[in-house]
Amino acid sequence: MIRKRRRIRRKPKVSYGTYEEVASMPRRLAETAIILKTDRDIEKMRRSGQIASQVLEAIAEVIAPRMTTQDLDDIARQQIEKNGGIPSFLGYQVPGHPPYPASICSSVNEMVIHGVPGLQILKPGDIVGVDVGAYVDGYHGDNAFTFTVGEIPENAQKLLQVTREALYRGIAQARPGNYLGDVSSAIQSHAESNGFSVVRALVGHGIGKDMHEPPQVPNFGRPGQEPQLKPGMVLAIEPMINEGTWEVALLEDGWSVVTADHLLSAHFEHTVAVLSDGPEILTRNDNLWGI
Ligand code: MF3
Ligand code: CO
Repeated sequence: MIRKRRRIRRKPKVSYGTYEEVASMPRRLAETAIILKTDRDIEKMRRSGQIASQVLEAIAEVIAPRMTTQDLDDIARQQIEKNGGIPSFLGYQVPGHPPYPASICSSVNEMVIHGVPGLQILKPGDIVGVDVGAYVDGYHGDNAFTFTVGEIPENAQKLLQVTREALYRGIAQARPGNYLGDVSSAIQSHAESNGFSVVRALVGHGIGKDMHEPPQVPNFGRPGQEPQLKPGMVLAIEPMINEGTWEVALLEDGWSVVTADHLLSAHFEHTVAVLSDGPEILTRNDNLWGI
């Protein structure tokens, strides 16, 4: 018996285009469209990325016990403004959250991300995730590094090393013809094969004239999952890896995210352009990350 073929309603395929092309798409498509940056866009994003990376380099030079997270924020703001930029995060608003009150996020130990700088004093053994965005000449650069304060225990060292490696394994997959799922799964499998877990509630993102553009960039997934990567895409790839459970909780300030079990969490982030010959790390800084 031949059955009437069921109409399968497929999700609309994601669309791609330059800023100009997307601006003339119907609203429904434009909202989820992935922006393909021109060479000129990317040239400007190199500069935003470099300025963001120099903030982290400046923090690496001074971070020490007894400093407060507010001290780190002051350094960041000065450094960005000195370079003619604006801190991307300052005043940033997402529905349901108060405007973000600082220039960086500083997330100590069990804090996963979005820690608000303040009077917290750094002590030996802490790990501090610092996330910074620089808005320069119309484009954002987004970069994060988890620093160590004094000597840290071996379990923390391993978490930092694996999270960094996971980021670079993800970046290595960011080439045209590959799929976003190839990036995500490379990160996830490295983290999990080392006994760590991947945060689900927060993801990376496209970036450009807006700090958050499509697509979302999860740190978990299966190889081959859509969307396909095309030259000109720019992604903020940012694994958040936990020592224990992947589950997280939001603190009362409406921003700070902590691990549900209060074990450690690490976060590293690069802004990465997908170019025809492979990934280019726009926030690359060999002084900080080593060669
Ligand atoms: N890198 C983080 C993100 O992409 C930092 C955002 S902080 C915020 O979400 F305040 F701007 F939200
Ligand atoms: Co980001």
